[in-house]
Amino acid sequence: MKKIFLFVSVMLAASCTVKAQELKLTSDNVSKIVKAMTLEEKVAVIVGKGSGAFDGRGRSYDYVAGSAGATNPIDRLGIPPIVYADGPSGLRIDNKQCTRFPNGLLNAASWNSDMLERMGEAYGNEAKARGVDVVLGPGMNIQRNPLCGRNFEYFSEDPLLSGLTSAALVRGIQKAGVGACPKHFAANNQELNRLSNDSRVSKRALREIYLRNFEYMVRNSQPWFIMSSYNFLNGVTTSENRDLLTTILRDEWGYKGAVVSDWGGGYSGSKMVWAGNDNIQHGSKARYNDIIDRVKDGTLSIDDVDACVSRMLTMAAKAIRYDGGTFSDNPPLDDNAAVVREVAPEGFVLLKNEDGTLPLKQGSTLALLGTTSYDFIHGGTGSGFIHNPYRSVCMPEGLSDVGFTLDKELHDFYTDYMKGERKRCEDINKNVPWCCERERAMEAVPRDLIAKAAKADKAAVITFGRVFGEGMDRDYYHSYLLSDGEMALLRTVADAFHKEGKPLVVVLNVGGIVDVASWRDLADAILICWQPGEEGGHSVGDVLVGNQCPSGRLPVTMPMKYEDDPTFANFPRIKADKYENYSFYRYVGVKPQYLVPNVDFTNYEEGIYVGYRHYLTKGVKVAYPFGYGLSYTTFDYKDLKVKDKSDRLEVSLTVTNSGKRPGKEVVQIYCHAPEGDLDKPTRELKGYAKTQLLKPGKQEKLTITIEKTTLASYDEKASAWVAPKGTYTIIAAKDANTPVLTADYSLGKAVKVKVHDVMGVEPLYIQ
Ligand code: BGC
Repeated sequence: MKKIFLFVSVMLAASCTVKAQELKLTSDNVSKIVKAMTLEEKVAVIVGKGSGAFDGRGRSYDYVAGSAGATNPIDRLGIPPIVYADGPSGLRIDNKQCTRFPNGLLNAASWNSDMLERMGEAYGNEAKARGVDVVLGPGMNIQRNPLCGRNFEYFSEDPLLSGLTSAALVRGIQKAGVGACPKHFAANNQELNRLSNDSRVSKRALREIYLRNFEYMVRNSQPWFIMSSYNFLNGVTTSENRDLLTTILRDEWGYKGAVVSDWGGGYSGSKMVWAGNDNIQHGSKARYNDIIDRVKDGTLSIDDVDACVSRMLTMAAKAIRYDGGTFSDNPPLDDNAAVVREVAPEGFVLLKNEDGTLPLKQGSTLALLGTTSYDFIHGGTGSGFIHNPYRSVCMPEGLSDVGFTLDKELHDFYTDYMKGERKRCEDINKNVPWCCERERAMEAVPRDLIAKAAKADKAAVITFGRVFGEGMDRDYYHSYLLSDGEMALLRTVADAFHKEGKPLVVVLNVGGIVDVASWRDLADAILICWQPGEEGGHSVGDVLVGNQCPSGRLPVTMPMKYEDDPTFANFPRIKADKYENYSFYRYVGVKPQYLVPNVDFTNYEEGIYVGYRHYLTKGVKVAYPFGYGLSYTTFDYKDLKVKDKSDRLEVSLTVTNSGKRPGKEVVQIYCHAPEGDLDKPTRELKGYAKTQLLKPGKQEKLTITIEKTTLASYDEKASAWVAPKGTYTIIAAKDANTPVLTADYSLGKAVKVKVHDVMGVEPLYIQ
């Protein structure tokens, strides 16, 4: 049997009831076109070409080599294909150079919507130039647990920060005239058994945390597409869930775009259409037939099919290949590299800076240590990987370019050592499946060279790296903790340099948080640069030398120890076997056969108490709180005012740079709610803003708008968003644990917004 379905050609030959020759799709005649289509043509628009259209690594070669796939065109009606390409941080396509933008965590850590919108536009323009209609990103699932393998693509533990970060990127991408596709909707918070795991979440936690981020994103950006997720959610796979995709997403939130399934997600084509999942990728003959058969036997209404087709045609009318449209294939890669270099330091988080260790003096000789310093990680893996990055600026190049001198003996040692390690890793990695964790170089501890360097050089810089991605969650011992080799290097360097009165700077080049609490005393400065994209070495250099002031703030809490995480007991703790794709661990069809907690189902027992909501409310000490980050300068806050503007609050304050260097400040507005019927976290983020670059002594007035509905919590009994009347404390803070100014706001009349009572817990596996 031919792998690619032949139904496209079959349907092209199908007889038509309307004089179709003159009829061509436009943005105004969608319903006319739908009427003119045969059932087979409609279903061809809904169902993708099938897995056979891809190579073994999930890449299509139909329109853009290496893309994620496309919808089927219907030439006789002027319906072009819509071409999709991954991913969240740049184009994952073959043979063409693409910009490697910073990862999701860094984007969220910037807390800078204006800048993200500009970067999104650069990305959108590049997609357009390469002939891609829809980029499959941003990824925006809540970072429920630090060990989720895709956290580098995702934004935050907080729904507001996650939603507004995503909205800014979507607006930017779409300004360029292509579509964004935020993913994966919803509650897709672990990779283990990702196609069959059932996320069991209370209605309140769903509404306030796992759907809320998507709601903020939809209301603030209206993406062309949203991708439904693989997992089950309270017993129903998300792509077959009408309550999720129609009642909540469209009826309640007013979403106007289309929904595409995750690749291979969902089971029954007809249920997906009924639910409002408009495009089924990568599609299959079984799903195609199921839709046709269920329409014919009357189980599936043709109105549901038409609704999906209409939404797809609305998107197709905007596609690049509409009416024979062409594209330049010539994106401004140098301009985009400049954007990446400018953006990255805005998301770098300075955790520690004892006695002003950073910035280091320009011209200093540095001991650059750690294998990651010589094998820098620009981005993550899986569908978030960029195959052909335009640039890959490494640390030695970046640090030299900003005027540092590198210790030559150490540099020579690592250059030689890495040759052997690279070969060793390559030999192992050639047998590792695409989605699984790659072997990386082991640390070396060149003791004699370190001792010499401590005498000769001005400071030591060690970089530690972590890279992971789709298909597998992280291993606690292997990925969260520093390894024995890393600890040995850290101790040796700290000893040697501190004896000489010289500082040690640790750079964390990581796709998610790692333990810091157990070793931070050994370092004088700790900087998280996440995975900063293709200009990485320059961006780190810019911050170390002080050309740029780091202004990122943590989008997640860094706990004292992993066991303190509120989801600790309800997250996979299976030791990952490096050579197996655990995302397909129990992929056995509609009814998984087992009932193993955290594998077949995951109970979100912590409810709404995710991240700082837990640590603050339960009084658990953390290493670094949500929202935390130091600067090279200091800021004062004054004149906090709250104005009632009917359906919203206007919060304003003035920020002054009271230090000695230019910098940007992030102001976070939290709210402490009055006692009511529902238990509430001590405080929750309700708004934020970032200043412009302020010179010493300069000030800026920030105004932050908070919709009153944002103050509300979800009352399961009433199926309503409820904000009780009473006094709310509005807190301007530096981070979740550090309030600076407070103001009272009195809500005279309770807010109550009724919504549908849907998405309850209906566990699939309980007989
Ligand atoms: C991933 C998606 C990705 C899609 C297409 C899936 O395996 O979960 O995030 O966009 O593949 O490559």
